[in-house]
Amino acid sequence: MPGGRGAAAHEAARRRTFAVISHPDAGKSTLTEALALHAHAITRAGAVHGKAGRRPVASDWTEMEKERGISVTAAVLQFTHRGCVLNLLDTPGHADFSEDTYRVLAAVDCAVMLIDAAKGLEEQTRKLFDVCRHRGIPVITFVNKWDRPGREALQLLDEIEREFRLRPTPVVWPVGDAGNLRGLIDVRTPGRMLRYARTPGGAHEASEEAVSAERAAAEEGPVWDQAVEELELLRAAGATHDQEAFLAGRSTPVFFGAAISNIGVRLLLEAVVDLAPPPGPRELAGGRIRPVDAPFAGLVFKVQANMDPAHRDRIAFIRVCSGVFERGMTLTRAATGRPFATKYAHSLFGQHRSTVDIAYPGDVVGLVNAHTLRVGDTLYTGQAAAFPPMPTLAPEHFAVARPVDITRTKQFRRGIAQLDEEGVIQVLVSELRGEQAPVLAAVGPMQFEVVTARMTGEFSAPIRLEPLPYHLALATDAAGAEALTRSPIRGEALTRVRDKARLALFRGRWQADSFRREFPDARLDHLVAAHD
Ligand code: G4P
Repeated sequence: MPGGRGAAAHEAARRRTFAVISHPDAGKSTLTEALALHAHAITRAGAVHGKAGRRPVASDWTEMEKERGISVTAAVLQFTHRGCVLNLLDTPGHADFSEDTYRVLAAVDCAVMLIDAAKGLEEQTRKLFDVCRHRGIPVITFVNKWDRPGREALQLLDEIEREFRLRPTPVVWPVGDAGNLRGLIDVRTPGRMLRYARTPGGAHEASEEAVSAERAAAEEGPVWDQAVEELELLRAAGATHDQEAFLAGRSTPVFFGAAISNIGVRLLLEAVVDLAPPPGPRELAGGRIRPVDAPFAGLVFKVQANMDPAHRDRIAFIRVCSGVFERGMTLTRAATGRPFATKYAHSLFGQHRSTVDIAYPGDVVGLVNAHTLRVGDTLYTGQAAAFPPMPTLAPEHFAVARPVDITRTKQFRRGIAQLDEEGVIQVLVSELRGEQAPVLAAVGPMQFEVVTARMTGEFSAPIRLEPLPYHLALATDAAGAEALTRSPIRGEALTRVRDKARLALFRGRWQADSFRREFPDARLDHLVAAHD
């Protein structure tokens, strides 16, 4: 029986729900494609990639994404491998850190941290890693682009250990420095080297040949000896994979390869199946635990409008956390206690969708025309459940938005409200500025570009943005807001539409401190920062 408790537990055990986190250009799209290729979700790499000369990426569906070849929104790829169902959630690929990314990471059980061999740990990798640590998500590391000159393998491990306080435990070790990749050693089956035949453009799986230690030594000489020596060193230092430490976020299994040629990708895929945790019990607000075999409960982690240009629709992405989802079932929305019908449920594979009839813990279901749902909502059947609220991150960039054409004011308001609800941007208002001139607040400046593009493309209400000089938002109250109007410090108090929170905006820490000295009784609290 599909809806039984046993089914939920059984299906959860064979699910792996994960995301790839990386700095732009480290090779996330390439790796995603290569993973899907190995898992036979697609027959030829390129089907989910948006770069020039390849077929359009399945998740690149807004005009802006097409132009830039980046994925601004989260799509989901589902594929099966060795009896496991893998759900790969796409994190936005742009240089900005935004709330979107944070939310996607709320829906995964594991992350693959992708590092460019030549660049090491980069800004975005750091921020994303911080979120993983904050949320207790175990991290698998893949060092990419080993086919090109880069840093030394031991140096990269050192960097991870030093900067992330995370113990790197190589599961795969390269034979040959970056730029001279001769093969890989799977440390679990030592005494042999895996040698790869290159495939043109990485369009097919790379054929893998196991070469004995004797042959590798004879054919590769000192390069082989060096790899063996390094492994000895690592073993002596105790850098061996420890599943418990990995799941607790204290260590990270490390893989090396070249996604572009599919080198090392199979080993990474196996690791996701073998090492990444299946969906487990989740904590509810108030501390109760919802086991995976409890009745259905799901978390809305993303709401996206107009995914299909042919239909003005709105999709809510729901991560199944417990129980079995069956299309047509009536759920309860925790925020209101009201029923919610699920007739239009879809599974999503990039841009393509198909109707989904059943989904299990770890899966992502898209509910079409889910106009009432908000990010952070819980839907459930049976015993009431509500997951903890998703934090709204502290914005650091602010701009006043105005319609270019004042006859489009209605569309302007509708668009801004929609993008606020989706969480594309935070909208702040004040009596002083009025509703005609909302202040848009962003965690990263690229959110402004997304808003500008979507306001023109989808709502036919082009906007003009006037940047404000503030970079710090603190939570305050009515008295604090009033004090700010009397203070010589040039700050501003506004109300965030989404949660009615009063925010005091300052140019920087110095201004906030001086306001504090002037009004020691005024309430000024930190909001959740992107990197807390
Ligand atoms: P992203 O999604 O993380 O932004 O990265 P993406 O996969 O688009 O890859 C960024 C660039 O790095 C691409 O080159 C891609 O081909 C290249 N790349 C990815 N993996 C590897 C690898 O293992 N080895 C090498 N040498 N290069 C790799 P591009 O020139 O920007 O684009 P394209 O014209 O190749 O598509």
